[in-house]
Amino acid sequence: MKKIEAIIRQEKIEDLREALEKKGFIGMTITEVRGRGKQKGIKLEWRVGEYTVEFLPKIKLEMVVEESKLNEAIAVIEDVCSTGKIGDGKIFISNIEEVIRLSSKERGQKAV
Ligand SMILES: Nc1ncnc2c1ncn2[C@@H]1O[C@H](COP(=O)(O)OP(=O)(O)OP(=O)(O)O)[C@@H](O)[C@H]1O
Ligand SMILES: [Mg+2]
Repeated sequence: MKKIEAIIRQEKIEDLREALEKKGFIGMTITEVRGRGKQKGIKLEWRVGEYTVEFLPKIKLEMVVEESKLNEAIAVIEDVCSTGKIGDGKIFISNIEEVIRLSSKERGQKAV
């Protein structure tokens, strides 16, 4: 099993949830996060002068999937969230050793 951690633009999360659901990806966790990438934050012109926002609001989506479904899930995220502009976000993939569904005590792929 693999964990997908996608940091995406806030305005994309509803479209992404819908697109993922259409492909059968239901279980997921989202968190409102703040982050920065290569461009650091952004500079804003304000009446009092220029100031920099060091961390920008983003959404983090975490989803654990069977390995055989990984590429399909990534394709959906790319399709919805890549605009080609800076700040689109990133996808991090990692291995998951075990999943336990508490209601049934099932383990592994059955539990995802
Ligand atoms: N190396 C990283 N580790 C952890 N989180 C990151 C990393 N890079 C980016 N992020 C997260 O992703 C968000 C969006 O990053 P962003 O898309 O701006 O990355 P980037 O490297 O600057 O690419 P781009 O040049 O396309 O903007 C950041 O606000 C941060 O939350
Ligand atoms: Mg950036």
